[in-house]
Amino acid sequence: MLKILTVCLGNICRSPIAEEVLRQKCIDQGLEVVVDSAGTANYHVGSPPDKRMIQTASKFGFDIANLRARQFGPEDFDDFDFIFTMDESNKSNVLRLAKNDKHRSKVFGFQEFAGVAEPNFVPDPYYGDAKDFEETFRIVEQSAHRIAIQLKNWKP
Ligand code: 4NP
Repeated sequence: MLKILTVCLGNICRSPIAEEVLRQKCIDQGLEVVVDSAGTANYHVGSPPDKRMIQTASKFGFDIANLRARQFGPEDFDDFDFIFTMDESNKSNVLRLAKNDKHRSKVFGFQEFAGVAEPNFVPDPYYGDAKDFEETFRIVEQSAHRIAIQLKNWKP
């Protein structure tokens, strides 16, 4: 059973959609997984995802309305096998809490692990409009598919 955590800043836009889409893509590949998400910040702890991301998800057949935001913590390094960060800022915030090389070795950029160079981060749609949310969704969906295939063939 692979345990995967997706991480962004607020845990209300990018990482919840990445959590749900990656869960589905892993199931599609026949992988047994637990997928969760967290934010490096505590601004939105306990809140559902941003309404605009709930709507975008729903438009493409994904339901994220019941997810609730939580903050990333040092215990997550022991609880998860893979930690996928949405951008470089999320990654450095996560790595700052790592205590050893085993912790550090679990952390990858979402785009990096997917092997997608352009864009090399998942754009934050929070200050954007519906078009930005849809663009982020499309990037996440394409990369999640690639990540699920990478995980299926993963050899440490
Ligand atoms: P997320 O987006 O990191 O993709 O969840 C954001 C959500 C909230 C804020 C920033 C980004 N905020 O500043 O409250």
